[in-house]
Amino acid sequence: MAIKYDATIATEIINQFEAAPEMLVQLLHAFVQRYGYICEEAIRQIAAELNLSRADVHGVVSFYHDFRTTPPGEHIVKICQAESCQAMGSRDLTAHAEKKLGVDLPGTTSDGKVSLEPVYCLGNCACSPAVMIDQKVYGRVSNAKLDDLLAQYGDGQ
Ligand code: FES
Repeated sequence: MAIKYDATIATEIINQFEAAPEMLVQLLHAFVQRYGYICEEAIRQIAAELNLSRADVHGVVSFYHDFRTTPPGEHIVKICQAESCQAMGSRDLTAHAEKKLGVDLPGTTSDGKVSLEPVYCLGNCACSPAVMIDQKVYGRVSNAKLDDLLAQYGDGQ
């Protein structure tokens, strides 16, 4: 569950990085660690305290896949979209996951249980296609194996 945004704590995080614009990426990572995502209020506050425009901050947030702008699901399912995994069927696996969960990649199920996200190589290319669920990597994931994994994580409806 995402933590409620708090401007005072946000200022503390910003001050840990001395409100330095060159530390923006690290600072955004700290926000994601704390809140799970970067909300619009955070973008406004970071821009003001770092003396940047909101467009500057938005630009960095949208450039990196890790910087989500909506609350994450309880479980994060990342399907590798890089070359080796694509050659071994990750596109079909992604289509299966989208259908099973009822979301388009990237997206979060309406009940907030699962976020489905792309990732670009998990270092598990020898066991493509690879999937990461809540930081745990699985290899040679077939449609059936993904269904089993989702059931284990409580979303095997
Ligand atoms: S390409 Fe998918 S794990 Fe490396």
